[in-house]
Amino acid sequence: MVYQLGILGLGTVGGGVAQVLLTPEQRHPLLQELQIKKVGVRDLDKPRPVNFPPEILTTDLQSIVQDAEIDIVVELLGGLEPARTLILEAIAQGKHIVTANKAVISRFGDEIFTAANQAGVYVMLEAAVAGGIPVIQPLKQSLGANRIHTVTGILNGTTNYILTRMQQEKGDFAEILADAQRLGYAEADPSTDIDGLDAADKIAILASLAFGGRIARDEVYCQGIRSVTAVDIAYADKLGFVIKLLAIAHRDFSQADNALELRVHPTLVPLDHPLASVNGVHNAVLIAGEPLGEVMFYGPGAGAGATASAVVADLINIAALLPMGNQSHPLLTCTHDHYCPIVPL
Ligand code: NDP
Ligand code: HSE
Repeated sequence: MVYQLGILGLGTVGGGVAQVLLTPEQRHPLLQELQIKKVGVRDLDKPRPVNFPPEILTTDLQSIVQDAEIDIVVELLGGLEPARTLILEAIAQGKHIVTANKAVISRFGDEIFTAANQAGVYVMLEAAVAGGIPVIQPLKQSLGANRIHTVTGILNGTTNYILTRMQQEKGDFAEILADAQRLGYAEADPSTDIDGLDAADKIAILASLAFGGRIARDEVYCQGIRSVTAVDIAYADKLGFVIKLLAIAHRDFSQADNALELRVHPTLVPLDHPLASVNGVHNAVLIAGEPLGEVMFYGPGAGAGATASAVVADLINIAALLPMGNQSHPLLTCTHDHYCPIVPL
């Protein structure tokens, strides 16, 4: 069975996704069943990935969501509109959705999931939080036995990259931000990263999954890193701390109304705390609950490859869930004639 994909956006993430889908060899067998039919962009004349077939590009995004042959729409445009409307239209046409768009999901997730339930389609969003780190699926499934009380995360790669370089090489804020943009980490409008809004979108999504309820995105307290100076970082260091932009969701089960705290702000993190050594574009999510205790997810939080990994994982999961999904795996044989000795990493 072949599933036809319509991809909205071929920027940093869309380009990374196309690269994986166009070279499926040596990856998951279900990738052979995913075929890109059309890709929507704004500018047909922009340079695209080397092996990308230009004839499937279009600026007519409606022609993608209305195409009866497209089974899954991958929304990688960013921003609220036209992303939200296109997602809803695609759902109304019976298409499954994969999106990396935390801005849309944190504000309109309810509307989108209600529409998807009515239409009987899947909406997957692993890439929307913490880039390449699998955290949405674990929260929805593997941690389901727990009563989660706190989620603490470094959820924005751009600001962690900036703070890390300000700390390690005392670099200039504007220059480091320009590097983060060049590397494809920052949002189209980087103030979304710098002012903490992107991390607030992400903690709202994690909190709704962790605590099993609707979160009003605007209730997340949000302060970004604009006011953090080299002097702050130097003093923090002298006192045994590092400054990180943390996103925190805490539910106090001892309160009658189970009070909820949701906040994003620069935080003094003790040097021996597990989040203190999360550097550069890496993100981490520390989840605490009962009976598990604490678990931490760590990895690259932004960039083409890392994010494509999460988007394509969602596509594979949808293909595996669909009735005709072929999940057979080829037999792999080991070329070693003995077990590997234990060697240091
Ligand atoms: P880019 O700005 O690099 O790419 C956006 C793409 O969408 C471009 O191809 C652009 O077309 C196209 N596009 C945008 N608006 C329109 C429109 N109105 N009509 C037609 N085409 C449009 O963004 P990213 O790839 O960085 O991000 C995409 C999404 O993924 C965002 O939601 C972002 O938050 C999310 N994300 C990004 C990560 C990252 O590391 N960059 C990580 C995790 C999530 P054109 O190329 O012609 O300009
Ligand atoms: N701009 C985002 C970040 C991309 O820097 O974390 C990943 O969501």
